[in-house]
Amino acid sequence: MKPGTVLRFPPHFLWGVATAPTQVEGHISNEWTHFVARDGGTCRVACDNYHRYSEDIEWMTRLGVNACRMGIEWSRLQSRPYAPLDQTELDRYCDLLDRLQAAGIVPMVVLHHFSNPPWISSDGGWINPATIPAFVDYVTKLVSALRGRVRLWNTFNEPDTYASCTYLLGEFPPFLKWRLKIFRTVIRHMAEAHLKICRVIREQGDDSGPVEVGFSKNWTFFQPYCRTSPWDHCIAAVSHAAFNRFVLHHFLGGDRKESSTFLGLNYYGRVRFRNCRPLVPVGGMSRETLAQMGVACDDMFERHPPGMELAVRQLYQKYHLPIYVTEHGAASTDEAFRERDLRQNLAALHRAMGGGAEVRGFFYWSLLDNFEWQFGYSKKFGLLDVDFSDAGLPRRMKPLGEIYRKVCVDNSIGH
Ligand code: FCB
Repeated sequence: MKPGTVLRFPPHFLWGVATAPTQVEGHISNEWTHFVARDGGTCRVACDNYHRYSEDIEWMTRLGVNACRMGIEWSRLQSRPYAPLDQTELDRYCDLLDRLQAAGIVPMVVLHHFSNPPWISSDGGWINPATIPAFVDYVTKLVSALRGRVRLWNTFNEPDTYASCTYLLGEFPPFLKWRLKIFRTVIRHMAEAHLKICRVIREQGDDSGPVEVGFSKNWTFFQPYCRTSPWDHCIAAVSHAAFNRFVLHHFLGGDRKESSTFLGLNYYGRVRFRNCRPLVPVGGMSRETLAQMGVACDDMFERHPPGMELAVRQLYQKYHLPIYVTEHGAASTDEAFRERDLRQNLAALHRAMGGGAEVRGFFYWSLLDNFEWQFGYSKKFGLLDVDFSDAGLPRRMKPLGEIYRKVCVDNSIGH
């Protein structure tokens, strides 16, 4: 792209930041409460967003965003199946949503982001079909209680990541490995719940405008490193079938797609395989070794900005649903690297939109450095830095925060 080029986004485009309750709130009682991450960290206090949400909203204002994707934590609101919602916790979320509205920030609410109430987990979690009506009951009550405050609903965040980390890779509680049948059952149950919830949300409607509902699919390209390796071809094809095709089929296949009004896309990059080994830092290889092989990574995955264009184009062509990029971000302490990554991915997104894909918003992962599941506090995705060594958990704007602010305020990206 020529220097001086400015890529403009459509009017009313949503520029947001994304977070999840377990990763930022703290003081939570779910399956993560007693979990100790690889760096020794726990989510017990996290960023203490539970108490500091108004301060964090002020930071969002400073960032110039007009949207935020946030979760509401099921375990806070119901103490047993079919119970009425806890009024104190509900009031807290209402206050948060009112403050967002006063700040001109549109919330997209995520209903399930890798966590469940303890009474759901002890009863088999999403393996148990009884979880479906219990979740639908909770959501029905929540949607009605938040009437007038939320217009954008995100049912499930990355069902494939949740089910694979929990039942295939043994990374998320209860740490089971290679239970392929269970993986498939969990996806089917979540998809069934998604369809039911879409119906509830669309029937209830909202006074604040047309309601929108969809789930977020984590899109990873799986490829062989060497085109001539049949084994690596095979692993890539099996991964694509299990994590991409199977999940999309259950959530959006056939007339199921009529239930959703949008598709959420979480896009980070790709995974290439060499001698059956994934070439990614989370697979245990160093960023430097990978760089020597021509595999450019952040602290987690291989970056692949052209894939942003391809994923958006392909998914839009296939489903014809408006798309929100509900997560994109890079984990690194190298801010210049993160800036390049953001610019390249936004340019790719812009190309996809120029090619006709309807994209309504982009949410950067994440507002702040936070508890990154099995990796604890070692992965730095934030636009804001949080000093976890200081009990006051002070926030500080990072250089990328300033750059993102300009993108949001200008509704464009300059090169
Ligand atoms: C996504 C998750 C999010 C965060 C980012 C880095 O898969 O939805 O919670 O962990 O990755």
